[in-house]
Amino acid sequence: MSVEDSPASEEESAPEADGERTTEPKIRVENVTKQFGRIVALEDVSLEVEPGEIYALVGDNGAGKSTLMNVLSGVHEPTSGQIYKDGREVHFGNPSDARDNGIETVYQDLALMNDLDIATNIFMGQFPRKGGWPLQIIDWDETYERTEQIMMDQLGRDLDIRTEVEFLSGGQRQLVAIGRALAFDPDVIILDEPTSALSVDATRLVQDTIDKLADEGITIIIVSHNIESVLEHADRIGVLFRGSLVGTLEPSETDLEELNELMTTGTLESGLLDDD
Ligand SMILES: Nc1ncnc2c1ncn2[C@@H]1O[C@H](COP(=O)(O)OP(=O)(O)O)[C@@H](O)[C@H]1O
Ligand SMILES: [Mg+2]
Repeated sequence: MSVEDSPASEEESAPEADGERTTEPKIRVENVTKQFGRIVALEDVSLEVEPGEIYALVGDNGAGKSTLMNVLSGVHEPTSGQIYKDGREVHFGNPSDARDNGIETVYQDLALMNDLDIATNIFMGQFPRKGGWPLQIIDWDETYERTEQIMMDQLGRDLDIRTEVEFLSGGQRQLVAIGRALAFDPDVIILDEPTSALSVDATRLVQDTIDKLADEGITIIIVSHNIESVLEHADRIGVLFRGSLVGTLEPSETDLEELNELMTTGTLESGLLDDD
């Protein structure tokens, strides 16, 4: 059962072989530093995200959240340090490298095309095709069928997938953006401020959806300013302060006040975190 015994593909053998013994973290960040010229955006950050976990990344403006997200999604290469996926070291030169490793990112601007329908937005750039080269055409039946599966089975939402995106609410648009990530069949989804522009109801819709995806085993990394909702939904919360990870908290062991203190000062008066 050791990694050496089995052929290269850990991903296929992992789900059946449960037993908590040798489960690697889904994502491991080790001593990652990222500099932009003289600005140190991330300094010696190490963290682990477990399979199926909802890991929230919080911090004040400029703390390094986006930079860390961009390192994990292949937008930036770290200046130093390593990233491991399922125990294997990975190097992402660009976002498609991260995608090839099962990591999808939903950016804050969503980048949806308003005058196209839900299915087209979800499969834009990667439509299922039929026919042989050079006469390949988009397989629309397959496109709508797979969109239906993503919407109903994975997101649990009964939306008419032929609706143009411009007619959707903010929460529904966020779901379409998540659906587009799901079309690549990722095992990790990184979400940048998924609820920042949403109403209370829409926030709940998106939160429920994220919970459902995590229940299905997808690992979620969520960058958020919404500490209240993070406290309610995250399994663990990593706090960045001026480029350093200053704490990893479980919602059950902390509260709004403490999180705020840690985010704004980088430390806790109680000294609770100085346990290493
Ligand atoms: N592309 C960049 N070039 C130069 N400095 C950057 C760049 N991206 C981020 N920074 C700097 O790195 C620090 C962390 O930024 P960022 O990761 O965006 O923080 P957050 O997302 O937590 O607000 C800030 O000081 C920011 O100005
Ligand atoms: Mg940011």
